[in-house]
Amino acid sequence: MAAGQGTRMKSRLPKVLHRLAGRSLLSRVLDTAIRLRPRRILVVTGHGAEQVERAVSEMATQPVEANTDEAGMGAMYTPEVCCVRQIPQLGTGHAVQQAAPALAEDGSVLVLNGDVPLVDFATLQHLVAASAGSRLALLTIELADPTGYGRIVRGASTAGVLSHGKGPVQGIVEHKDASPDQRGIREIYTGMLVAPGAALKRWLAGLQNDNAQKEYYLTDIVGLAVVEGTEVVSIDADGALSVAGINSALQLADLERAFQRRQAETLMEAGVRLADPSRFDLRGTLDCGMDVEIDVNCLFEGDVVLGEGVRIGAHCVIANAHIDAGAVIHPFTHIDGEAAGVRVGADARVGPYARLRPGAQLERDVHVGNFVEIKNATLGAGAKANHLAYIGDAKVGERVNFGAGSITANYDGANKHRTVIEDDVHVGSNCVLVAPITLGAGGTVGGGSTLTTSTEPGALTVARARAVSFANWSRPVKKRKE
Ligand code: UD1
Ligand code: CA
Repeated sequence: MAAGQGTRMKSRLPKVLHRLAGRSLLSRVLDTAIRLRPRRILVVTGHGAEQVERAVSEMATQPVEANTDEAGMGAMYTPEVCCVRQIPQLGTGHAVQQAAPALAEDGSVLVLNGDVPLVDFATLQHLVAASAGSRLALLTIELADPTGYGRIVRGASTAGVLSHGKGPVQGIVEHKDASPDQRGIREIYTGMLVAPGAALKRWLAGLQNDNAQKEYYLTDIVGLAVVEGTEVVSIDADGALSVAGINSALQLADLERAFQRRQAETLMEAGVRLADPSRFDLRGTLDCGMDVEIDVNCLFEGDVVLGEGVRIGAHCVIANAHIDAGAVIHPFTHIDGEAAGVRVGADARVGPYARLRPGAQLERDVHVGNFVEIKNATLGAGAKANHLAYIGDAKVGERVNFGAGSITANYDGANKHRTVIEDDVHVGSNCVLVAPITLGAGGTVGGGSTLTTSTEPGALTVARARAVSFANWSRPVKKRKE
């Protein structure tokens, strides 16, 4: 269900497209649903339907590796994902009614909320198993403060009838319709259930909207199931995070922090040393070797791999990069490999204030210092660019020293050209290397040179105006006023 307005977000963006740890709420829910390998996934859209549907089609076109422990493990599986529109939105029961024609009679139907992003895969497997094709299975949780939620109403406990010695479920009553006694119930419906397809369709057809909100409540199917004699079972949710819904910017930020804390704990349990887990953000995957240290306020995005003993200084942003063992990234460094990736070789030193862009490949022991930008370029082992430089579309050999303020002029205003700097070249300060150009191995380029042609190996090349001196020259003096 992803049709709701999300009024309290006070945003033009549909609520389910807001992001948690870098990915939309809806894509997180869809991912978890896809891992269950359902025959079909139906997304109920309404508010911002076009935008949500476009996002769904972008999310759901990739085949995925089915993540189940069944025999088919490892097989690729392309989920069938469709959207159905619910306009206007007359309640959660009405939302599922829109999907009913597309639901198989002989299947099980799992209902999820597009705004509950951290729903737990294993719990959903349990829920599906508990339904077993014939029962109505509800995901519930006990909350200290159940205000606003639908309450689980149970009959007297009869030993052996249901789990945990709780009485049989008789129905769900929405907060707004609940009596003072019912409001005292702390067990709530999380918004997730599994129902047999044929029965669900029958129950949906019987829903009425004679309630406090004049809505068709999905939760009313529970009472209908009980009347029919269908067994209703409940499964306990795995902690409040896994059922937390997002309704406001504050709740989104709170859940983000809680999620980040959980990711930080998982990394620390694996031995990663975070200077402060509350000042750590991961929006993607982070794979760390032994003895990795990460200082405060670092942000990791996409897929990042940090080899053994890598140290990341404070305030770094690192995305889609592979950093080999022993490398040190000094503070305030920005690395973004995007699709092409960035590789930092073993024992390299990068930053402070360095910028590595897509296709930057640093071999071992490379040093890249402050205000150095590298894009689509390989730097051979031991090469150094320590200050204020731009290296783009280039192949830089081993042990090259690239001087302060020097750049590869790779772009002629229309096309990009390559620069090749062979091993052991020294490029002085403030040079402009106009590509395409090759600097022969072991050569030296004098500071302040602008080179437009290639140089021979071993040569010293200087391309700048000679200094002219006038001996004993006296500076002009200011004239006296009359
Ligand atoms: C619902 C449950 C309540 C439960 C709570 C858990 C009902 C009647 N109540 O209440 O028992 O404790 O969730 O969070 O189901 N939606 C649509 N179309 C609609 C209405 C809602 O797609 O017409 C979607 C919303 O976008 C949202 C989800 O359904 O993703 C839940 O809707 P919401 O209005 O938040 O339900 P609650 O009143 O919170
Ligand atoms: Ca809600």
